[in-house]
Amino acid sequence: MSKLWDKGNNENTDATQLINQFTVGRDRELDVWLAPYDVMGSVAHIRMLESIQLLEKEELIQLVEALQGIYESALVGDFVIEEGIEDVHSQVEMMLTQQLGEVGKKIHSGRSRNDQVLLDLKLYMRQEIQEVVQLTQSLFDRLIALSEQHKEALIPGYTHLQVAMPSSFGLWFGAYAEGLTDDLLLLQAAYRIANQNPLGSAAGYGSSFPLNRQMTTDLLGFERMNYNVVYAQMGRGKVEKTVAFALGAIGGTLAKMAMDVCLYMNQNFGFLTFPDHLTTGSSIMPHKKNPDVFELIRAKGNKLQALANEITMITANLPSGYHRDLQLIKENFMPAFADLKASLQIAEFMFQHVQIKQDILKACLPLLH
Ligand code: ARG
Repeated sequence: MSKLWDKGNNENTDATQLINQFTVGRDRELDVWLAPYDVMGSVAHIRMLESIQLLEKEELIQLVEALQGIYESALVGDFVIEEGIEDVHSQVEMMLTQQLGEVGKKIHSGRSRNDQVLLDLKLYMRQEIQEVVQLTQSLFDRLIALSEQHKEALIPGYTHLQVAMPSSFGLWFGAYAEGLTDDLLLLQAAYRIANQNPLGSAAGYGSSFPLNRQMTTDLLGFERMNYNVVYAQMGRGKVEKTVAFALGAIGGTLAKMAMDVCLYMNQNFGFLTFPDHLTTGSSIMPHKKNPDVFELIRAKGNKLQALANEITMITANLPSGYHRDLQLIKENFMPAFADLKASLQIAEFMFQHVQIKQDILKACLPLLH
């Protein structure tokens, strides 16, 4: 296995292979998602290296062109981390070296994989958060429209799950819309914490090269940098946890909303329903309309709420500095975005087709006296 840190004295024994397999874990699969961001980070880094005369102009041009090719292959899904290559950082450097020779190695000057992976993750989460915000906005708009449309449709309000006071579908839809705005406030704070440049912190203790960290901060569109290089590295795990907390807040709102929908769809409530083709039936009980979509939105939302705690537990008691433990966070953290985005999208789709029963309150009137 070719490794950036290899001193060349490792025999390729069964034991080293076993160790590699265990330590690399799922990195070769998950790091592929980071490839476009790894390339973007490298382009900013080498432009900066050229500006401080650590790279010739000609070398910069060659490297940027080759990196552009890798970026495009990553965008169309052609980028793979080859068998025997440890991670995205090693793969990109290996491709450059194969294409351009020794100059390929220069992209690593003044950098460590520790600040590289942290940078990649921050660029990745910035993009993913933006997509989450857009989808949350669409669901918000749908809920507000439904709130307006059904403001006259009365339903009972419950306390202790006992019929309490007359309320309305307008209030119910609007409540979840307003809930999402609170969740977005948290996400905005998490975004700002993520949007700080760790590049240049190297292994977590800076570099002896006169790196221009402000330049890479500007090139990558970060709001500011993590000034203290030790803190930059300490941000690994902490920033994922902060973002996870905000994703969990949206997940919590969706889960509660989904639980209400399941309850309201129950035949004894019968407050709302969906067209048959959006629910699932049962071959043995043809009267059933199962709310599988909302059950899974509920489960995914609850699972998302566990994420911040999972990260807390992985990072519990780690002292400052890089630890390999941090790598494992990717397995839980990175797929969470797809889960949340899918839930937001399908919730919005389902609500386009929601059917509200009229005169619900009539049946409850005797109970309200
Ligand atoms: N795959 C590693 C991670 O995600 C990359 C950093 C490795 N650094 C190291 N010193 N082993 O954390």
